Amino acid sequence: MEAKTVLLIAIPVLLVLAALLAIATTVSRQRSATGSLTKEARKADRSGSGAALATTDETAEGRARSSETRQSLEPAGAGKPVVTAVGGLIRFGDAPADPETLGVNRRQFFNRSIVAAQSLVLGSFSLAIIGFLWPSLSGGFGGKVKAGDIKDILATIAEKKLPFYVPEARAYINPYPESALPAAKKVYSAAILPEMQAGIVVLFQKCVHLGCRVPWCQTSQWFECPCHGSKYSRVGEKKGGPAPRGLDRFPADVTGGQVTINTGIVIQGPPIGTNTTGQEAEGPNCV
Ligand code: FES
Repeated sequence: MEAKTVLLIAIPVLLVLAALLAIATTVSRQRSATGSLTKEARKADRSGSGAALATTDETAEGRARSSETRQSLEPAGAGKPVVTAVGGLIRFGDAPADPETLGVNRRQFFNRSIVAAQSLVLGSFSLAIIGFLWPSLSGGFGGKVKAGDIKDILATIAEKKLPFYVPEARAYINPYPESALPAAKKVYSAAILPEMQAGIVVLFQKCVHLGCRVPWCQTSQWFECPCHGSKYSRVGEKKGGPAPRGLDRFPADVTGGQVTINTGIVIQGPPIGTNTTGQEAEGPNCV
């Protein structure tokens, strides 16, 4: 699977996960803001007999503690207690709790602000990535690149004795001899055979050793890498140096004589020892 496809799948998945995380964080914060009752308190509430709980369950020691706590929580001079402690449990009385005192609304506001800020940052980041990837889907390196008319390309190569370089595709186009097709069918992938049958190979400029750009050597009529000396024939088959295989290549469509290179797919170069054209160096090497 191509890297951009993986990214296009991964981004929405990450966004969904981030949204779930944000929702979970909000719920968790709201719970911690409003507090939760203990198991005993929930049981007491269900029975609807908070007072009864005090009379039936309190031990003498508990009652003493309850009395102590009640005194400490009762506001001085208040006619009716707002908060009482029963058997170690804090219970709210008849008077409704003041939301401002509890700070619930304020906390909710901050929680929602945090979620909104997180969503904004994630959204901006995702849009930036999609914007970065989008052009490569429709053209440029990583997409489909128009190289021109195959007849013009082959004529230019024959005239200058140079590969036809397509900068946008970071690729060289060289002729592929028809006589070598039977050997090519035994080695090359079906993805690139059609362009070879049309008479060309499209080679990625990157050396398969450590990634240097491989220039053309006019005297030997080979590609020769200046970094560590790897050498490749006119059709990108390995001739020497530390490269682990021949040059990688791109599939190309030749329709109505027009060559379109698909740089979104890289086909690995042929293994060491592949020599379908039998081309030897035609002069001194450059490296
Ligand atoms: S990068 Fe080309 S030979 Fe090492």
